[in-house]
Amino acid sequence: MKITLSVIKADIGGYVGHSESHPDILAQAARSLAKAKQSGLLIDYYVTKCGDDLQLIMTHKMGEENEKIHKLVWDTFVEGTKLAKALKLYGAGQDLLADAFSGNIKGMGPGVAEMVIEERKSEPIIIFMADKTSAGSWNMPLYKMFADPFNTIGLVIASNMHKGFAFDVHDVKEHKKITFNAPEEIYDLLVFIGAPSRYAVKAVYSRETNEIASVSSTQRLSLIAGRYVGKDDPVCIVRTQGIFPAVGEVLEPFTLPHLVEGWMRGSHHGPLMPVSAPDSTPTRFDGPPRATAAGFQLADGKLVGPRDMFADKSFDLARQQANEIANYMRRHGPFEPHRLPLEEMEYTTMPEVAKKLEGRFTHLD
Ligand code: 13P
Ligand code: 13P
Ligand code: MG
Ligand code: MG
Repeated sequence: MKITLSVIKADIGGYVGHSESHPDILAQAARSLAKAKQSGLLIDYYVTKCGDDLQLIMTHKMGEENEKIHKLVWDTFVEGTKLAKALKLYGAGQDLLADAFSGNIKGMGPGVAEMVIEERKSEPIIIFMADKTSAGSWNMPLYKMFADPFNTIGLVIASNMHKGFAFDVHDVKEHKKITFNAPEEIYDLLVFIGAPSRYAVKAVYSRETNEIASVSSTQRLSLIAGRYVGKDDPVCIVRTQGIFPAVGEVLEPFTLPHLVEGWMRGSHHGPLMPVSAPDSTPTRFDGPPRATAAGFQLADGKLVGPRDMFADKSFDLARQQANEIANYMRRHGPFEPHRLPLEEMEYTTMPEVAKKLEGRFTHLD
């Protein structure tokens, strides 16, 4: 049976500041999706949050970029924004960059990750969600899951994974895409995805069967809006087991709290801390950036779960390390590389300060 899995998210208001989502917003979104399930549009749904981002996880049979599904989501975000405004939540409607729905929610602000799959005999999936970081932050974990034998032993010893995986990479600035085959093109692949502010892994495919393994949201809010409106806070769907990496191989990369863009005012590097859903409350300097992982078994499109995968004690050390790295990075204050390089900074007084001081700069020679 062909199932579409759609994960669409938006920050429609923070509680308090950018640190959390308000429970009334989640409850209202759940009512909206419950109606759509009753009407038969959705097979199933799960509403959750990662920090101040509202996450709508849905299964249906309508395919990707379906107008009815995207309209349902847009209307849910618009209704949520009304409630957020009534509660005077912070940045109400922050990620809704268009005034009216125009057929496809892509390019309108919300993050979108969708895949159509033939549901297997058992279909374990993990949905990763992040707050206070950018599209591209999944590049390193995805590389480790699908191309690094030191992370994923299945690449070496499982015959149905030995052919490797294909990576679709998007150039988010020039709107171009390219596919790389791992393992033989990993050096070429890394030249690009090692620069995640520009190149983001959009999707991964099994080279054994060509089936989709993973899809991420790659929209860059600041490029859509032309100004800083908040961070992308991306999502990523990963299928696991069988021809795909095992659940434990998919989670393993997050034992390294790698440095990502985001954190305070979207303008800093900081460690990505793996946390349980309730602990996705970025509070210290609006961070450090968080990742959550919701695990489901699909059963004829029904979302059996979630299991809160990062709640496990085996991620305690990564959290501890993330806090230590956060301390170390914070001590750099307004200096790079804690502060993002000038061209990546989303939030800057540089043009006005430079203009004010224009006349005071003199040539060296
Ligand atoms: P404002 O308080 O000016 O909105 O900026 C701080 C912030 O939270 C950036 O999103
Ligand atoms: P969000 O993108 O999560 O709203 O964070 C914005 C911000 O500027 C935090 O300091
Ligand atoms: Mg926010
Ligand atoms: Mg956010």
